[in-house]
Amino acid sequence: MKTFFIETWGCQMNELDTQRLSGNLKLRGYKRVDEEANADLILLNTCSVRDKAEQKVFSHLGRLRELKRERDVTIGVCGCVAQQEGKRILERAPWVDFVMGPGNVGHLDAVLEEGRRLAIDFPEDRNYDYLALDRTSPTKAWITIIEGCNKNCTFCIVPTTRGREVSRPFDDVVAEARAAVESGRVEIELLGQTVNAYRCPVTGNDFGALLGAVAEIEGVVRLRFTTSHPAEVSDSMISAMRDHANISRYLHLPVQSGSSRVLRRMKRLYTREKYLETMARIRKEIPDIHFSTDIIVGFPGETEEDFQETLSLIEEVGYGSLFAFKYSPRPGTPALRIGAAVDESIADDRLQRLFALHERIKRERLESYRGRVVPVMVEGPSKHDPAMLSGRTDDYWVVNFHGDPSTPLGSILGVRIDSAQHHTLRGEAVA
Ligand code: 5AD
Repeated sequence: MKTFFIETWGCQMNELDTQRLSGNLKLRGYKRVDEEANADLILLNTCSVRDKAEQKVFSHLGRLRELKRERDVTIGVCGCVAQQEGKRILERAPWVDFVMGPGNVGHLDAVLEEGRRLAIDFPEDRNYDYLALDRTSPTKAWITIIEGCNKNCTFCIVPTTRGREVSRPFDDVVAEARAAVESGRVEIELLGQTVNAYRCPVTGNDFGALLGAVAEIEGVVRLRFTTSHPAEVSDSMISAMRDHANISRYLHLPVQSGSSRVLRRMKRLYTREKYLETMARIRKEIPDIHFSTDIIVGFPGETEEDFQETLSLIEEVGYGSLFAFKYSPRPGTPALRIGAAVDESIADDRLQRLFALHERIKRERLESYRGRVVPVMVEGPSKHDPAMLSGRTDDYWVVNFHGDPSTPLGSILGVRIDSAQHHTLRGEAVA
């Protein structure tokens, strides 16, 4: 029997692409293995959102060259670096057998059969076979609802690597969610680079309508989605979240910067004021929502004043979670023409100050759970202490707690929170 190994970097979309690739190979009789050394086929499912992610791929390919010298193995580079670098990968690493972009995930068998070396188009037929997905979590199913991105943020490589937006038909998504529930998954996460730009190509139904329909499927205990764009937050999305108790009270809404001047140069399509207005609209309907965000520091031309505005915005919103990155110039993106990135040491310093501020805000938020009993969905044993269980609150905090180890995964338990750790909560299940 032929074997395969897949290494995955990057976002949830990429993880889901890996589940699609894996499912496709299993249908063809391949067996998945956890060690590269035992694999006949090695796929690298890559990320190119920042330079660091991209460098990892090339150092990995260097190691695979040795393997290829020792034995017969097929090596495929998939994902966003594949799309971005295309045939340059074949030139730089000629021991790679094929390069396949995100548009061709549904066509892996054709690529293998035809011996294609370069598959970086975006075929109209994406061949999305959800029944063949190799879902790794027993409790959770990811479902793509929209691929690609039509925004043109000047720093971002995604429009190049994942193509234009294509939404899947509403009924297909609902059918996939039903099938996921039938297979025992209680949590659904809808995915898209700009998930809330969803619009059914058949009926025109929007994201709010889809959220409501999936939330109403019997057996969907928890519903989440990522990633939303602030300019696409609609009233129907907000009211669907408000009206369905099983939609997580957690929203990741990347702001990138708190300065309207920088936002304009990023082409984010909103100002600081407009973003805050959107947050206020959401909070009015869902007061206890947990907001999270992404921030880029050191974007070309970012001044100390601009950065101060980012800090004050973080304070004003009070994000529970935050992901911040130093600006990384990406090939072919419009930001390259805006100017050079901010000096590395200044960007490092800003990043540290930003994290220090957020640490305090996060701590206050986590501490506010102490003594409360909150519903937690059991996801498995705790990573650090296998004698404890681990799960998440409805607003997406990780809770490690003492409880009955025979509790079925996916159940919801009341947990009394005793303490707040660095990023997580600790407690004990209560009867
Ligand atoms: N440099 C730094 N961070 C970036 N991101 C996207 N592109 C870049 C870039 N060129 C960040 C954004 C985005 C997250 C997924 O990655 O904050 O929201």
